[in-house]
Amino acid sequence: MLRNRKILLAVSGGIAAYKAIELCSMLKKSGAQVKVIFTENAGKFASELTFEVISQNKVYSSLWNAAVPIPHIELADWADMIVIAPATANVIAKIAQGIGDDLLSSTMLAAHSPVLIVPAMNINMYNNAATAANIELLRTRGFLFMEPECGMLACGYQGKGRYPANQEILYYLMTYLKHGLAWKGKKVLVTAGACREDIDPMRFITNHSTGKMGIALARAAHILGAEVTLIAAHVTASLPEYINTIRAYNAEEMLAACTKEFPETDLLIMNAAVSDYKPAITQTEKIKKAGNLTLELHRTVDVLSALVKMKKPGQLICGFAAESQDIVAGGKAKLVKKNLDYIVANDLRVAGADLTSCTFISPESQIDMIGEKYPVALQILDFISPDIIKDEK
Ligand code: CTP
Repeated sequence: MLRNRKILLAVSGGIAAYKAIELCSMLKKSGAQVKVIFTENAGKFASELTFEVISQNKVYSSLWNAAVPIPHIELADWADMIVIAPATANVIAKIAQGIGDDLLSSTMLAAHSPVLIVPAMNINMYNNAATAANIELLRTRGFLFMEPECGMLACGYQGKGRYPANQEILYYLMTYLKHGLAWKGKKVLVTAGACREDIDPMRFITNHSTGKMGIALARAAHILGAEVTLIAAHVTASLPEYINTIRAYNAEEMLAACTKEFPETDLLIMNAAVSDYKPAITQTEKIKKAGNLTLELHRTVDVLSALVKMKKPGQLICGFAAESQDIVAGGKAKLVKKNLDYIVANDLRVAGADLTSCTFISPESQIDMIGEKYPVALQILDFISPDIIKDEK
C-alpha cells in the first residue's frame, strides 16, 4: 500500500498525540519509511522514545542539535507526503501565517510535498473563527484536511474535535499518493446495504448484504475529491461521519431517495441489495403463530432500472450483480438487460467478508479484482475514469 513511500509524521501537542503511536506503527506495517517530527508540547503527552522505536528512526524534536545539520530543509526535501496528526489549533495557525519558530513550523515553510492535516482539539477551539479561517486559507493553498470526529472529547465536552480512526488517515495517505484528487469536481451517488421489507412490526425480508463494499466506494470517491452522497439501507459496518448519508429502509424509500439525488449526479454506483419481493400486505400487528403460514409476495420496484430511464447524456451508471453461479455471465447479461455503463459481478460466496472477489465489466472489457474492499473500490473508480464524464446534464 505505502511500500517505500517516505512519510513524515509530525506530532503536535494535543492529548491525541498518544493515538499517533498507532498511526506510526500502521504506517510502518504498510511498508512506508517513517520519520517523526515531535513538538516540545507533544512530549508532554507521549514519549519520543516510543516513536523512535516504532519508526525505527531518530525522532526530530528541535531545530538545534538534530541528527542532521539543517533538519527542517532535509525533512521537507525527504518526504513524499507529510501528515500532521494530531494538529493543534496553534500549529494550524502558525502554518497559515507562515510562522517558523520551531522545527515543525519551519519544516512546513520549506515543505513542497502534499500535506495532510488532522486537527484534533476542543470543539470551541475548532469552531473558533480564527481556526476556521486558518483552515479555509490552508485549504485554498492545497493543504488536505481530515474532519475531526464527533463524540466525547478529552476535555469533557461532547462534540466535533476528536482525532479520527488511524485507519481513516491511512486511507487518505494511500489514496492521495496513488491517485491524487482524481474525482474532484464530480458528484458521486453510492447506494449500499440491505433493504428490508416488513412482514409485521417484528419481522422482515432481507438479505446478507453488509454494505461494506458500498461504504468503501463512497469513502474512496470522497477521498479522491468527489462530492459524495451515500444512500444507506441496513449496514453492519460503521458509516464514515464525513460522508453525507441518507438512510433508506426499503425499496420504496431507496427509490425515493435515489430519484431525488440522481439528477445532479455524475456517477451512480448502485451497490445496495434491494429486495426483489415484499409481502403483499404488511400486517400492523404481530402475526401470531398458528399452523403453517404462506406469505404472498409481490415484486418491488427495480430502482436501478427506474434510474436508467431518468439518465441524461453525461451521466454514468455502474450496477452490481449478485450471483451465486456463472458470475461473469450473469453480470454481462445484467449489464445489457439493464442498459448500464458498467457492472461489478460479485461472487456471493464472499458476501459480508472484508475481502472481495469480483469482476468489473464494461461493454468492451472485463477485469478480475481480488483483495480488501477499499483497494478494490479504488480500482473500480480508477477504471471508471472521471475524464469521460462530460458536463452535459
Ligand atoms: N436492483 C435494484 N432494485 C431491485 C433489485 C436490484 O435497483 N429491486 C439493482 C441492484 O442494486 C444491482 C442490480 O440491480 O445494482 C442487480 O441486482 P441483482 O440483485 O444482482 O439482480 P436482480 O436485477 O435483482 O436480478 P436477480 O435477483 O434475478 O439476479
